[in-house]
Amino acid sequence: MKIGIVIGSVREGRLGESIGAWVAERARAQAGAADVEWTVLDVKAFNLPIMASENWAQDENGPAEVHRWRDAVAECDGFVFVTPEYNRNIPGAFKNAFDLLSRQWRDKTLAIVAYGGLGGVRANEAWRFTVASYNMHVVGDSVNLIRRVDFPGGKLALTDHHDTSLSKVLARLVSLTRAVTTERERAAAASS
Ligand SMILES: Cc1cc2nc3c(=O)[nH]c(=O)nc-3n(C[C@H](O)[C@H](O)[C@H](O)COP(=O)(O)O)c2cc1C
Repeated sequence: MKIGIVIGSVREGRLGESIGAWVAERARAQAGAADVEWTVLDVKAFNLPIMASENWAQDENGPAEVHRWRDAVAECDGFVFVTPEYNRNIPGAFKNAFDLLSRQWRDKTLAIVAYGGLGGVRANEAWRFTVASYNMHVVGDSVNLIRRVDFPGGKLALTDHHDTSLSKVLARLVSLTRAVTTERERAAAASS
């Protein structure tokens, strides 16, 4: 089972990178998840173009960056979205990365680590109805980091409370992903 930790901010000086590193470190130490391979998918590193064709992912003549992104997402059974909130919503670059693909998200799982002035709660909620397009199964609990409280001096300041709340969300994601992956593979085998 493979779970992708998607860092969704591409901004110079972003906080997202440090949050993604924390999530990856805790995920790899997560109890009861020794069989899970955690991989960091940094949207910035994929250097994705703005979506100008809904066929790019399928079209062999589509941009190589989109194909690399497609293949990395396709390999995962579930995801953790590390998402900031921009203008009360999902950041444009992250939404673009999501929109570039379709079937690669379908029937997979998601947990959300959101952050922003108010804990990224609106981006968090926006992701929940956005991913419903692909019947993604989302963990109800989430981690919400508040800029002024959790990033004194602009740096992520972790406490036991953060680790505990992340661990709870990851445990739910892992068990949900086990169930959903089994069912997705059963359904695929039955229809082939
Ligand atoms: C263009 C822009 C819009 C923002 N809008 C919001 C907002 O609506 N609500 C909020 O809580 N924080 C907002 N913020 C603050 C960000 O959530 C905060 O700066 C966060 O660190 C951004 O993530 P990043 O550093 O990984 O890019 C905004 C930041 C930017 C750059």
